[in-house]
Amino acid sequence: MIISFEGGEGVGKSSHCARLCSALDNKKLPWLTFREPGGSFLSEKIRPLFMSEGIDTMTELLLVLASRRQNIFEIINPALDKGKIIIIDRFIDSTLVYQGIAGNLGLSEVKNIMKSCGTWIEPDITFILDIEPAKAFKRFIPGDKFENRDDGYHRKIRQAFLDIATDKRHRIINADRDRNEVSREIISIAEKIITENSM
Ligand code: TMP
Repeated sequence: MIISFEGGEGVGKSSHCARLCSALDNKKLPWLTFREPGGSFLSEKIRPLFMSEGIDTMTELLLVLASRRQNIFEIINPALDKGKIIIIDRFIDSTLVYQGIAGNLGLSEVKNIMKSCGTWIEPDITFILDIEPAKAFKRFIPGDKFENRDDGYHRKIRQAFLDIATDKRHRIINADRDRNEVSREIISIAEKIITENSM
């Protein structure tokens, strides 16, 4: 099964991915984790190109999809065949939000492009970590091109994640709380669905 973590900058995705992996270890469940863009050798090579300044939004989209397609064949499909739980730090919803909505390529257009190049896979659970951008930005020092954008951009990203979180797989998590409380909620939801899936 696939579990994705989504949300704006500084919401704590990476730390909650790691905490979920430790919880799965405690239950002796097999897992694998990676971030996007990135993951496989090729995809990690694509990441700095994707993150470079001044590139066109469609170029960004094609780069992240090239990264994802390679991950699907090299990491995701083999891990699913082995019954592993795959935990991904950003996946299809980030593409819908950053390139489709904030990047103005269009939500349905981006979804169709993903479908037509075999990069549309819906996770079993998607945690959308939600926190007001002004608060999230107090947690880290902005560095990359996305993080350096203005508050209006980040508020648009936050709203876009909330707007697209309409599927059964989506769980909006209030990340503006004590980190342990947030991770307890995430782990309990994940364990419940993992158990249901294995029955
Ligand atoms: P992060 O790994 O620090 O979250 O940074 C990755 C950046 O890439 C983040 O700002 C969001 C962006 N991104 C997209 O724009 N589209 C995508 O499809 C993905 C996966 C990430």
